[in-house]
Amino acid sequence: MNITLGFDVYGTLIDTHGVIVQLEQMIGGEAPRFSQTWREKQLEYTFRRGLMNCYQDFSVCTRQALEHTAATLDHDLSEQQKQTLLEAWSTLPVFDDVVECLDTLSDTGISLYAFSNGQAEAVHTALANAGIRGYFQGVVSVDSIGTFKPSPAVYEHFVTAANSDTDHAWLVSSNGFDVIGAIAYGIRAAWIQRSEAVVYDPWEFTPTVTLSTLANLYEAIS
Ligand code: LAC
Repeated sequence: MNITLGFDVYGTLIDTHGVIVQLEQMIGGEAPRFSQTWREKQLEYTFRRGLMNCYQDFSVCTRQALEHTAATLDHDLSEQQKQTLLEAWSTLPVFDDVVECLDTLSDTGISLYAFSNGQAEAVHTALANAGIRGYFQGVVSVDSIGTFKPSPAVYEHFVTAANSDTDHAWLVSSNGFDVIGAIAYGIRAAWIQRSEAVVYDPWEFTPTVTLSTLANLYEAIS
């Protein structure tokens, strides 16, 4: 059986902080802080909804996190501005190392999937707008099973949906909690540490490989 790679989408292929461009026009210099807080709150909502068995899809978490962030940082955004920010999620840029990595992998017989908290349709749109949809055999979304990363159920769902098994499936993610979830479930995982400032959680589940960019992924997993 060939290796199957599941690429995390938001934060690994697609730069969620691309939304800073729109935010800067609305709130100026506080845009980076707003973006960071929004992203952290979005993920917190997925974790909490998972624990509570209270699933609502990822776009609901994104919208509710936006409301919370605007209120916390005291920015009175209009409905139109909020809509602009939410729509920006479908046109976010890819990281610089993505296309070359996917180009290299696409000639190797390795199966490539996008594997995300996002709903399949939203992920298809984001990948298509970023020009990388064609590299993937498919999109595996947690939405099919109604819970979020890092529940072990979502990694099991990925392995099944991608017709792989636990000996051949890998997660590729820059999100440490996602890597820990995959390793704890029992598949391999490459952690992409794009910045030295990002610290991996000091838990008992370490990445199979750690890379500073996607550039050397093929060498690292084969
Ligand atoms: C995803 C989240 C982790 O794409 O952003 O699954």
